[in-house]
This record gives sequence, C-alpha cells and structure tokens, in this order.
Amino acid sequence: MKGTVRFRGLSVVAALLMCLCICAVAVGADDMGEGVRQACSSCHGTKRICRMLGVKDDAGWEKTVRRMVANGAELSPDSAGPVAQYLSGLAPGSAPLCR
Ligand code: HEC
Repeated sequence: MKGTVRFRGLSVVAALLMCLCICAVAVGADDMGEGVRQACSSCHGTKRICRMLGVKDDAGWEKTVRRMVANGAELSPDSAGPVAQYLSGLAPGSAPLCR
C-alpha cells in the first residue's frame, strides 16, 4: 500500500524533527542558564535572583530584567523576553544559578 509507506516515511521525519527540537531546547536551556548567570552576577550575587524564583511570574521577571538592562546589565533588550521566560520557569534552587 503506497499510502501506508508514505505515512511511515512522514512519521520518521516527524520523529526526527521532534528529537531535534527537544535536543535544541535542552542545549538552549543550558546556554541560557550560563548566560544569565554571567550577565546577572556582575553587580549582585545570584542569591538575589534565586530569592525571587517561584515568586515573580513571567511579566514580573520581564519588568525586572528590563530594569536590570537599564541598570547596565550586558544583555540585549531583545533577550529580556526569553530570559524572563527562562527565569519564570525555573524552580527555586535550580542550577546553575543557585548552586
Ligand atoms: C549593572 C548592574 C546589575 C546587573 C548586571 C544586574 N542587576 Fe539586578 N540589580 C541591580 C541593582 C542596582 C539592584 C537594586 C535596585 C533595583 O532593584 O533596581 C538589583 C536588584 C535585583 C533584584 C531584586 C529586586 C527585584 O525586583 O526583585 C533582582 C531579582 C535582580 N536584580 C535580578 C537581576 C537579573 C535577573 C539580572 C540579569 C538579567 C540582573 N539582576 C543583573 C543591578 C544589576
């Protein structure tokens, strides 16, 4: 059956794509953690950030990150959204920020 074969081919491609996406997200999160740790620990310790994990939501973090950029944090304003999303999704005590 031609249709079945084609369908199988598609699901293999879909599975590969899904794996690629998951891998990319995993690597991205690691890079993000390191980047945030570096960009956010030059003026105050990361403890100040850790205290707020699980307290601020996405919008709260975005406001904070934008204020930090205004304070002088070396972060492009474009990354305020992704950084805020990363921080609001982080559990209190998470590595590499809090360990
Ligand atoms: C250029 C110096 C500087 C850098 C870099 C910096 N901060 Fe701050 N941060 C401050 C100062 C000054 C305060 C206290 C005054 C204030 O809250 O704006 C502060 C306070 C905070 C607070 C406590 C106040 C609150 O609203 O909860 C958090 C959380 C915080 N910073 C997170 C971050 C994060 C996340 C980053 C990285 C994106 C970062 N900071 C980078 C200077 C900096």
